Amino acid sequence: MKAKGDLEIFLATAPGLETVLCDEVKANGFRAPKAIPGGVTIEGRWHDVWRANLVIRGASRVLARLDRFRVTHLTDLEKRARKVKWADVLRPNVPFRVEASCKTSRIYHSGAAAERIANAVTAELGAATSSEADVGITARFENDVCTISIDTSGELLHKRGFKEAVAKAPMRENLAALFLRQCGYDGSEPIVDPMCGSGTFVIEAAEIAARLMPGRARHFAFEQLATFDGAKWQTLRETKGAAAVTPAARFFGSDRDAGAITMSQANAERAGVTAWTEFQQKTVSELTAPDGQPGLVIVNPPYGARIGDKKQLQPLYRSLGQTLLNKFPGWRVGLITADAQLAKSTGLPFKPTAAPVAHGGLRVTLFQTGPLG
Ligand SMILES: C[S@@+](CC[C@H](N)C(=O)[O-])C[C@H]1O[C@@H](n2cnc3c(N)ncnc32)[C@H](O)[C@@H]1O
Repeated sequence: MKAKGDLEIFLATAPGLETVLCDEVKANGFRAPKAIPGGVTIEGRWHDVWRANLVIRGASRVLARLDRFRVTHLTDLEKRARKVKWADVLRPNVPFRVEASCKTSRIYHSGAAAERIANAVTAELGAATSSEADVGITARFENDVCTISIDTSGELLHKRGFKEAVAKAPMRENLAALFLRQCGYDGSEPIVDPMCGSGTFVIEAAEIAARLMPGRARHFAFEQLATFDGAKWQTLRETKGAAAVTPAARFFGSDRDAGAITMSQANAERAGVTAWTEFQQKTVSELTAPDGQPGLVIVNPPYGARIGDKKQLQPLYRSLGQTLLNKFPGWRVGLITADAQLAKSTGLPFKPTAAPVAHGGLRVTLFQTGPLG
């Protein structure tokens, strides 16, 4: 049973990573976390919405549910949508946009549905629509039930707010954080990414170890809602910010591309993790394990989408596997690729895999080993 006044809050993520996100949400003490297709639901107040946006690494956005009702005609939709308590949440002077999606419902035209809801909001509140608005209302029609939510994040949460330099095929920060979690990474061990691109894994790992909040450097759509309290938000940020620590471990990235290294260094600098990270230009065959205790090698090598790519990439995967087997005793490996055969070419002793994850139009899988012999 939801406590009185509680909201239903939905944290979206890439399909395939819902249970990993649910673990993160649980570990952060949110109420009633439940993994469902596409994300995790929790219960809480607006304060919890702000906190989820600020501290959760694995979500792509946070939605707050406003209303849910059965509706089968567009005319009824507009009437019913006028009864939503818009003034409790939206400000009359802040523009908004509406996005609708329809599945197995008599209302099947998402554009028309979005327009009716926008009309209802403007009629009740006087607020104007704008396709550029930070404040987004989402309406999901499924089996003739309309669920109306507010997107409280605005720009997607993988945009941490400091990364300007992006490599060709970057891993989204929220996925990188969840793959690290799936590998059992808790911030206490060293990390090596030998194909680091723009440095996503290395920087995420360093931030996790330093207990830095992923949302510390950005703004959120909830700051423009009627429910926002600037003073309480400031207190929350300060309290969470005070938990930062100096990590004991170090985080290493390398790439054969000099531009990738410059990018990674600039990104690490902006994120404030330069002191604990090290980036070097080198190929995987030149790789050696850093001194000290073993940790986790996490890597997403190129996987190529074109026919013929696979054959060309096999030697690269083989060389990566050989280097890790010869030079990284005691280290675990987490390798993300879209191609199981390429993963197999490494010769690494992978455990059975978890569900594939939708990423950049492909389905990628995390292949993991235990400590190498
Ligand atoms: C899919 S990208 C990795 C993206 C990275 N995870 C990120 O988030 O930006 C693959 C990277 O592997 C690098 N690479 C390809 N062949 C390599 C080799 N032989 N040695 C080292 N790096 C290599 C490429 O330069 C590219 O940056």
